[in-house]
Amino acid sequence: MNIILLGPPGSGKGTQSTYLSSAYKLNHISTGDILRSEINEKTKLGLKAESFMNSGSLVPDNLIIEMVSKKLSLLNSVLLDGFPRTLNQAEALDNELAALNKKIDFVFYFDVPPKDLIFRLSQRISCKNCSSIFSKIDKEYICSTNCSEQKLFQREDDKPEAISKRMESYTSLTAPLIDFYDKKNIMININANKQILEVSKEIDELMHA
Ligand code: AP5
Repeated sequence: MNIILLGPPGSGKGTQSTYLSSAYKLNHISTGDILRSEINEKTKLGLKAESFMNSGSLVPDNLIIEMVSKKLSLLNSVLLDGFPRTLNQAEALDNELAALNKKIDFVFYFDVPPKDLIFRLSQRISCKNCSSIFSKIDKEYICSTNCSEQKLFQREDDKPEAISKRMESYTSLTAPLIDFYDKKNIMININANKQILEVSKEIDELMHA
């Protein structure tokens, strides 16, 4: 099974990915996490991507498509989180999957009102070691998974200016994908503006329908 999680920044794609990848044995491909790790390791790709990410702009399609294609050819049953994000990327994904004789089974679109997104992003803290996602409103400053990391950090692109830029990029470049996947009849709208466990439950019900 291959699934895409589509939705604006802060809509909960990463949070639900943790649950879904474990519950349905899917290989989680988060382009944001891969890029952050490339930046930490100061690789060639990381050096090229860093300024785009920190300012809230999208990283150029050619870099992203090459990065994801390598993973797709090696993995079965993927959960794509943060990819595709432009029509070019969506078309490249279709071509890549067709060549591998695979297809997308579901696209879940996470619907959350803009004011809630901005609040969630301003409160987000993450673990540098295992990428687990938390919120300051849970007052949880120590990574509570099995990893040993003590400090959580706020992402550079969760600062107000970068958040605005990310929202703009989402509206102009990523939102058109809603129509793209709707026309293929594989898109399902999720009300992601409720408790985390409730969102997981809604997805579970749809997967078993
Ligand atoms: P990426 O890391 O993918 O960021 P994003 O899509 O902007 O998504 P976020 O990680 O901000 O949000 P999310 O939906 O995962 O929400 P989360 O679960 O964390 O990309 C970062 C950057 O990398 C991009 O800006 C771009 O530069 C580059 N990039 C990545 N992919 C690219 C691509 N394909 N092409 C080009 N460039 C690319 O939750 C957010 C907060 O809300 C957390 O605090 C969480 O605890 C909380 N929360 C989650 N669910 C709920 C809930 N139901 N109720 C209340 N709070 C909740």
